[in-house]
Amino acid sequence: MNKLQRHFREHFGRPAAGGVRAPGRVNLIGEHTDYNDGFVLPIAIGLEVRAAYAPREDSRVRLRSRQMESEAVFDLAGTIRPGEPAWANYSRGVAAGLFGLDVGGAGVDILFDSTVPIGGGLSSSAAMSVATALALLAAWDGPDAVGGSELARLCQQAEHEFAGAPVGIMDPSISILGQAGHALLLDCRTGLTQQIPFADPRLTLLVADTRVKHALTDGGYAVRRKQCEAAAATLGVAALRDVDEDTLALAASDASLTGPELMRARHVVGEIARTLEAVEALQVGDYVHFGELMFGSHRSLRDDYQVSCAELDLIVETARSCRGVYGARMTGGGFGGCAILLAEVGHAQAVTRTVQQAFATTFGHDCPIFATTACKGAGRL
Ligand code: GLA
Repeated sequence: MNKLQRHFREHFGRPAAGGVRAPGRVNLIGEHTDYNDGFVLPIAIGLEVRAAYAPREDSRVRLRSRQMESEAVFDLAGTIRPGEPAWANYSRGVAAGLFGLDVGGAGVDILFDSTVPIGGGLSSSAAMSVATALALLAAWDGPDAVGGSELARLCQQAEHEFAGAPVGIMDPSISILGQAGHALLLDCRTGLTQQIPFADPRLTLLVADTRVKHALTDGGYAVRRKQCEAAAATLGVAALRDVDEDTLALAASDASLTGPELMRARHVVGEIARTLEAVEALQVGDYVHFGELMFGSHRSLRDDYQVSCAELDLIVETARSCRGVYGARMTGGGFGGCAILLAEVGHAQAVTRTVQQAFATTFGHDCPIFATTACKGAGRL
């Protein structure tokens, strides 16, 4: 907090009243299932957005970020709309959402400092939205005015309406609800959660960053979402969550579902089943099976959902050939971003070296790899 305090004073010429933090995430399994009413199993990671804040006398919100050149200013007294600079749209959306719930107050100065790489698939935008929400609520003296799942929905809506990214509920949920040493099993239909212990000291979770930037506003994500909705409509259900493997096999054999819609549905139905199986495997410490499910998830995302890329595939295939690796897969929306590898602690260094060498040989640039544990969700600093 001291460094953040100092930067706040440098930028705004007065002391901060307090600080909050919101972590990024990796998803262990359950990819592209959240907007299909399915299950996800993410953990919060050690990279986070920190925000120092102080209330203002007027109704303006001034935002600065240590990672961005430009300052953003908007007025809470008027209608809040998306605008320039674009990086502040998550925050604008969150402020609009809170006012929509009749939670609001005077203006606020906020300084952000983030260690979550932007567009790196570790949920930098949800961390930004959640940090904004907590900073505004803390400045308005109403930190408990909005519950965790309502706050997650509000952050999701901010991304939809202010950033044009039709994301699911997973990222803000884990940023808010994450617990140290636990993965979060989230039922994205009911909002019910279960904390699943994920802290075996014999294991390490490695995160490999392809440095291929992705943007959820690019279109590929929205297209997948529409194809899933179309598949559900063809099958006469509310969401692909309601489809089982037999129904899907029948729809494939009588050709009522074909082409991309069939492929997307096959991924989602399989992935939901894999996620629930993975939870059972974790609970009994069956990492071999858990790892197989991770590889299966990657295959399905690559072949049926078609959201992987050459860099992610190479990391996963190289990891598969390494001793001490249980499983590996891409994590997050895909089209770049990061892969995760579940490995035995004693083999982590060798695995890191092997993957980095293969990556550099093929793509000519390096691939940062770091280890993470399951960290605590958002809160005050
Ligand atoms: C992105 C979205 C999430 C989720 C994942 C894919 O991270 O923000 O809501 O859909 O992609 O699982």
